[in-house]
Amino acid sequence: MKIVKVRNKEELGKKAAELVTEKVYQLQKPILGLATGSTPETLYENLIRKYKDGKISFNHTTTFNLDEYVGIDKNDSNSYRYYMDHKLFNSIDIKQENTHIPDGLADNLEEECQYYERLIKEAGKIDLQVLGLGLNGHIGFNEPGTPFDKRTHVVELDQSTREANARFFNQMDDVPTQALTMGIGTIMEASEILLLVQGEKKAEILKEVMNGEITEEVPASILQRHPRVTLITDIDI
Ligand code: F6R
Repeated sequence: MKIVKVRNKEELGKKAAELVTEKVYQLQKPILGLATGSTPETLYENLIRKYKDGKISFNHTTTFNLDEYVGIDKNDSNSYRYYMDHKLFNSIDIKQENTHIPDGLADNLEEECQYYERLIKEAGKIDLQVLGLGLNGHIGFNEPGTPFDKRTHVVELDQSTREANARFFNQMDDVPTQALTMGIGTIMEASEILLLVQGEKKAEILKEVMNGEITEEVPASILQRHPRVTLITDIDI
């Protein structure tokens, strides 16, 4: 694992944007895997800045997001579709039809997961997958105990994950109990992974992820087996 140490969230965003930009430049039809949450916010701000400065175009880029809540409308400000549209897609030249996020309101969630997997397969391979890290070691919404070979699937969110994300909702009861997520099997097939981890509160779990046993109880520990991971973090490791 390649480690890039930064001082803070701003620098993390800048470094991450440099790597994403490089990838988008290199490839004729880049396919990016994207994450939501607090950590990648400065990445998206920097990508928008680079786009506005004429340094990058996303005209030929396709994206697949990691996850989406079940039961939340895409126009709801808590949906991950809303997050992506407002924090990135609406401010760059990506074609809306090339941006993909699982549909958490699909009538048949299992079919939606299979459809999402098919879309990824048809697109080819994810060239660069951006990941955040949950306090419990999750990547996407693959909670501790999820088999490493899972594809896109429906998950019951851990109480700790719901509590961590409650800050975005009016009250705890509004936080969804389920989500759709790319599986670890899907994530591990990406050619390259960019893991973003910010803030002292993640120091302990990050150490486990990097140096601990590879176990389904710490989902991100599987990244030790991926040949091309870059970690950008402000944590001393
Ligand atoms: C979001 C996602 C999650 C987050 C993780 C960290 O799409 O898949 O795994 O990356 O929960 O979230 P933040 O960055 O808010 O600490």
